[in-house]
Amino acid sequence: MSEAAEHHREREGVGPIVLLGAPGAGKGTQAKLLERRYGVPQISTGDMLRHHVAQKTDLGLQAVEYMQRGSLVPDDVVMRMIQGRFRAPDAARGFVLDGFPRTVPQAEILTEKLKHLGWPPPLVVYLAMDYNILLQRLTGRRSCPKCGRIYNIYLQPPAHDGLCDVDGTPLITRKDDREDVIKERLRAFVEETRPVAKYYRQVGLFHKLDGSRPPDAITAELFVLADSRLHGGEEETGTVA
Ligand code: AP5
Repeated sequence: MSEAAEHHREREGVGPIVLLGAPGAGKGTQAKLLERRYGVPQISTGDMLRHHVAQKTDLGLQAVEYMQRGSLVPDDVVMRMIQGRFRAPDAARGFVLDGFPRTVPQAEILTEKLKHLGWPPPLVVYLAMDYNILLQRLTGRRSCPKCGRIYNIYLQPPAHDGLCDVDGTPLITRKDDREDVIKERLRAFVEETRPVAKYYRQVGLFHKLDGSRPPDAITAELFVLADSRLHGGEEETGTVA
């Protein structure tokens, strides 16, 4: 049996999900909820890169300058980091891609990779945002370095100032959530990642949700879309944008 056929036989979960959106659109927040509901891992290239930077690996050293200024890390570095992740045992029933693909070349490689592994096309959801809200979301973001839970001091504050609700760990602020860096991240999004939405729109895999609503409203719609994958309906539904 070919590798693709072998995998197809085992593929019964929600499958691959791609969350697209500007910095602060809520990809990480929603990815964690999808992870919990469908029992599939969140694969965040941003988190993976930050881990490499913190560990000072070769890859982290190659990425750090780009990240500090808010630019995208070169495709070859990201691909080197992520290759193999899709084949990990925890990804056998699907995975939620958060922050990947970020460029059209990354999207093209992903398409080939998924095909090769016997996955159906991904569920692609674009969280559309009013850019005026993004600054408040990003400058107010705090996260737990232990469990990864994301808060916002203005919009989703923890119960106790500065501490994670889940495990009491002191919350941290991301280094790239500074106004000057946010500006560059938004530029990179407009110039390099928006075309990825166009790429998926053209291949008919694109769903657009209004990301500026409260998190619960977005989650409810995401779950409906993802549930339809469990019942084999999503591929027929086409574009919802
Ligand atoms: P990455 O870590 O991917 O950051 P990002 O895309 O800029 O996205 P964010 O994590 O900032 O936002 P999010 O959409 O996840 O929002 P969140 O849920 O946290 O990338 C960082 C860097 O790594 C890049 O700049 C680049 O250098 C590099 N990189 C990563 N991947 C790469 C790739 N594939 N190729 C090249 N380079 C790559 O929410 C934000 C805040 O809003 C939180 O405080 C949250 O509580 C709040 N919030 C969320 N949803 C709502 C809501 N609905 N209502 C109110 N508040 C909300």
